[in-house]
Amino acid sequence: DAAEKGGYEHFMLKEIEEQPTAVRDTLRGRFTATGEIALDEVRLSDQDLRDTDKVFIVACGTSYHAGLVAKYAIEHWTRLPCEVELASEFRYRDPVLDRSTLVIVISQSGETMDTIMALRHAKEQKARVLAISNTVGSTIPRESDAVLYTRAGLEVAVASTKAFLTQLVACYLVGLHLAQIRGVKYADEVAAILDELAAMPEKIQTVLAAMDPVRELARSLAGVQPVLFIGRHVGYPVALEGALKLKELAYLHAEGFAAGELKHGPISLIEDGTPVVVIVPSPRGRGLLHDKVVSNIQEVKARGAKVIAVAEDGDTAVVPHADEVVYVPVVPTLLAPLLTAVPLQVFACEVAGALGLEIDQPRNLAKSVTVE
Ligand code: G6P
Repeated sequence: DAAEKGGYEHFMLKEIEEQPTAVRDTLRGRFTATGEIALDEVRLSDQDLRDTDKVFIVACGTSYHAGLVAKYAIEHWTRLPCEVELASEFRYRDPVLDRSTLVIVISQSGETMDTIMALRHAKEQKARVLAISNTVGSTIPRESDAVLYTRAGLEVAVASTKAFLTQLVACYLVGLHLAQIRGVKYADEVAAILDELAAMPEKIQTVLAAMDPVRELARSLAGVQPVLFIGRHVGYPVALEGALKLKELAYLHAEGFAAGELKHGPISLIEDGTPVVVIVPSPRGRGLLHDKVVSNIQEVKARGAKVIAVAEDGDTAVVPHADEVVYVPVVPTLLAPLLTAVPLQVFACEVAGALGLEIDQPRNLAKSVTVE
């Protein structure tokens, strides 16, 4: 067991550290020199993909959060409407599906029963199903029309980390593939994004190398609750994932919110010293999102919050308002979750460690949930 952990105290820590390699493996050989993207097992014609008029992403838990990020990228790149749905809800609300609907199911294990049942429902309604999975030959890839494997390697810790990052990469590849096939994006634009993706493993490594202050912060806050996570755009699903990690590992009350929703309720939770982790969008990004998030920081700060900002290198605007700033390298906005999620994983892991909790096997949870 100790040998398998490769010198790490637990698998989760090892798997967090393996993320640069995992992302590199997900990307390897997935595109040609001319920027064309190759999926693994495609039993769908290019024409089927061209005929797609709507995309659904269906998943559970952390995989669902990867799907929420994917929605932003897929809609932006392909101009197809994309809805994201929890697998456990999907078939019960009679979703509108037909043969021109592409359903993307995301599952690390490939065996989550809620997701399997959603997939079967989609197929009964004649939708095309593409699986993103980490487990070769598992039920979900076997029953789907096309598969993209994430190649994260075996993930042992119940709380998903490297599988999540590789699911994001796989979703980006699917989005680019669809955009290319549908003629919305051209080879040079796709190649530019692929270059950015290819540079990600090193940037993730940079984030990992700078985690000591996050660990220290986690130890100083261990046990404090609630902990709120807020973000906008792709930072919103990252906030949800950060909160989920803390719930799973540290059994603390943690909630993720869209920063814009704060004023519609969650801000009432803030008391003196309440930690609020803020995923700050790039100041170079679209619209005025960055400035809006800086105002959100000021709002929570004024109510006594302890603000921990995860911001882009060089973003000095957050410094006067935040108690702590964790910087991550500059990347295109849509790809930022590959970096901003990492400090939140480390934070949750370290809080749980400081509380003396079992990291790899949190109570009441299972790695793969094979019942509905
Ligand atoms: C369980 C695990 C989570 C995982 C979810 C979906 O709840 O504890 O970490 O995100 O299942 O699993 P899947 O294998 O379908 O991605």
